[in-house]
Amino acid sequence: MGFATKAIHVGQEPDPLTGSVTVPLYQTSTFAQEAIGKHKGYEYARTQNPTRSAWERNMAALEDGTDAISFASGMAAIDAIARLFDAGDHVLLAEDMYGGTFRLFDTVLSRHGLRFDTVDMRDLDAVRRALRLDTKLLLTETPTNPLMTISDIAALAEIAHSSGALLAVDNTFASPYFQRPLQLGADIVVHSATKYLGGHSDLVHGVVVVRSEELAERLHFIQNAVGAVPGPFDCWLLLRSVKTLALRMEQHQRNALAIAQLCSSHPAVERVYYPGLPSHPQHELAARQMSGFSGMVSIELGSRQKADRFIAGLRIVTLAESLGGVESLVCHPATMTHASIPEEVRLARGITDGLVRLSIGIEDSADLVEDVRDALDNCR
Ligand SMILES: Cc1ncc(COP(=O)(O)O)c(C=O)c1O
Repeated sequence: MGFATKAIHVGQEPDPLTGSVTVPLYQTSTFAQEAIGKHKGYEYARTQNPTRSAWERNMAALEDGTDAISFASGMAAIDAIARLFDAGDHVLLAEDMYGGTFRLFDTVLSRHGLRFDTVDMRDLDAVRRALRLDTKLLLTETPTNPLMTISDIAALAEIAHSSGALLAVDNTFASPYFQRPLQLGADIVVHSATKYLGGHSDLVHGVVVVRSEELAERLHFIQNAVGAVPGPFDCWLLLRSVKTLALRMEQHQRNALAIAQLCSSHPAVERVYYPGLPSHPQHELAARQMSGFSGMVSIELGSRQKADRFIAGLRIVTLAESLGGVESLVCHPATMTHASIPEEVRLARGITDGLVRLSIGIEDSADLVEDVRDALDNCR
């Protein structure tokens, strides 16, 4: 079955009770039981909810996994992965990652005994050197937020497995439409479904997909025991959103390429970060492991003053956190998404005061090109 067919049909068969073509919204906290211990498989909505189960079945199919486990946010999903491990275990994190992921490990999980180091996941020798006997997990993001660096999923899986560790990949930026890490050897995929999967900037949600049934069982246990579950309405919205994921991702990519090309030739831009451009240092690797390059473009404008002027000049693109929605957004990572990273670390990684990140939406390409061109002209 092709991707778009799966997105529309898996987990979304017509309701056997009424024939309803869309999965019903089971907005309930509990389920009546016929007698003690006799029920229809649903007892309490933290443990199971039919709308949530339908969404999880759909996501498992889209990522070519055996099961999906969903959470109240992307951060809750990443936290659930970390809870697979014990105090004293060691995790290797990608150096260039969403700031909130770094903050979770740095300020919360480390207080509970989980140890971690960061490493440049592009440099496979550095990853091998950073591995320790007690390393249990490699967690990478590809493409990364906000510098669009690419890590070689198949090579990282091999390195992780050769030392008995698991590989988890944050696939938020690519979406399963363009990249399927489990097929490349990863053990765990995680998404901030707030982004492309939700796609309409109207919900916050996270989802983990795994290949092994053993991991699925442990994560479902954590989902229920910790309780960071999503509400059924968000799962219902996701089921609706995902039906158009294939169409949306194609248009995100088309528009992003047009913007990346415009920025590459505009004198106000010092550097463009987009894996779809042949000038991206890892374009070949991206083309090998992704079937498209998604809709995120970052640009270096050289100073905070220029970034301010560029953002002030935009009329269609809105200044806001988040990404992956139908509407184009712009953000200033240094003061917004990555503000939780210490300044010297942030600057060393290239997240400068002149860096601006664009989440290119699915508006008419010509309108976006005109908007970004005018704003760039404004900041010279
Ligand atoms: C790549 C990535 N992973 C995880 C998260 C966290 O997800 P959420 O905001 O849904 O908790 C984000 C949020 O921006 C993100 O960009």
